[in-house]
Amino acid sequence: MIISPSVLSCDFGNIERDTKMLDASEADWLHIDVMDGVFVPNISFGFPVLQAIRKHTNKTLDVHLMIQNPDNYLEEFKKAGADILTVHYEACTHLHRTISRIKELGMKAGVALNPHTPVQVLEEIIGQLDLVLIMSVNPGFGGQSFIDESIPKVKRLSALIAKHQSKAIIEIDGGVNLATGKLLAEAGAQALVAGSFVFNSAIPSETIKALKQL
Ligand code: DX5
Ligand code: ZN
Repeated sequence: MIISPSVLSCDFGNIERDTKMLDASEADWLHIDVMDGVFVPNISFGFPVLQAIRKHTNKTLDVHLMIQNPDNYLEEFKKAGADILTVHYEACTHLHRTISRIKELGMKAGVALNPHTPVQVLEEIIGQLDLVLIMSVNPGFGGQSFIDESIPKVKRLSALIAKHQSKAIIEIDGGVNLATGKLLAEAGAQALVAGSFVFNSAIPSETIKALKQL
């Protein structure tokens, strides 16, 4: 299982310390949540913070854009250090163009689906994707509870990926802990994002280790 701890739940006063902790842990990727206050009802952070994180780790930066019009910023995210760039299906009118551009810039391309968006909307584009991010909470905040309907959704996505012989990785974001993580692993998830479960635990690196073993 690929584990991508969400930096959104770290202590921003100690971002260097927390990034180094993640860098030394068994985490595979670092999940970076960018929110614009328009697509989601919250504002997180932008390029300077991403650059600061990049300075302290060589691990894959898994950047989740919860922003309208991501097309305007793709190049800047590449420059700031993004390795994987995931845009929301619901925020992209010309999704095929956006995905093509992300790949041209040398990043892996992902698409995130809100809880109400069916996986079938990816039927025509799944072959082009490196990753699909299933939101198992409504995006905008850490610490929300897991939406159970996400489990059968992972199975439907898995079937869609197999049907199109796509190489897309199935990643899940929101309310992940050891209990939901186990169900997700059984359903076919390949990557798990975990924010509050990691950072609110006594020893975050041990929690990452436990998730890794799912
Ligand atoms: C929510 C973000 C998540 C968030 C997950 O909009 O996309 O990545 O950090 O937080 P937890 O793991 O606490 O649900
Ligand atoms: Zn996220």
